[in-house]
Amino acid sequence: MNRIRFATSNPGKLAEARAFLTGWEVVEAPGDVDEDQPDFAGNAIKKATAAAAATGLVFAEDSGLEVGALGGAPGVHSRRYAATDAARIARLLAELAEKSDRSARFVAVIALANGKDVQLFSGAVEGVIAIEPRGKGGFGYDPVFIPKEGDGRTFAEMGREEKSALSHRGRALTALSAYLSAMLEP
Ligand code: IMP
Repeated sequence: MNRIRFATSNPGKLAEARAFLTGWEVVEAPGDVDEDQPDFAGNAIKKATAAAAATGLVFAEDSGLEVGALGGAPGVHSRRYAATDAARIARLLAELAEKSDRSARFVAVIALANGKDVQLFSGAVEGVIAIEPRGKGGFGYDPVFIPKEGDGRTFAEMGREEKSALSHRGRALTALSAYLSAMLEP
């Protein structure tokens, strides 16, 4: 089986990537770098190139939640918004308490490094932030994110496949998967 490394320390992201890249052995690689770039692409490139080796493929992903009424925050700071997922959600709900616009978007950018150059793949999903958390699946802000293309459930109330069919990461992984398949064609 073809092997690809994924520079991440997030088990939720790893599980979602493995479900997409069927036919590939997706191996976890160290993904801890200082995410100090101004945008998702910059951080994804930094993570992928830090883990790149002379041979073989490695990809990394940076993602986050952009909330309209908060000027795009937490954005690239989504993970650092508070110490735990529960605290991040509590802070988000508190900051939106007085706002009527609850529209939000998840964005994901994947950087694929092959030791020579880097390719980018991105995906986004539009939605709204729920009044209170619902559901036990997924990770991060999933319990408060209701995708517009869904049926009113949060991502955390969906199974992994249902979430991935709509999600920012699912869309970026679909693009990555198509690129990898084309790369292998004789
Ligand atoms: P990073 O890309 O590891 O820096 O972190 C992105 C952060 O954005 C995660 O820790 C989550 O808080 C949030 N995030 C990204 N994608 C998702 C998702 O699919 N569901 C819920 N939260 C997400």
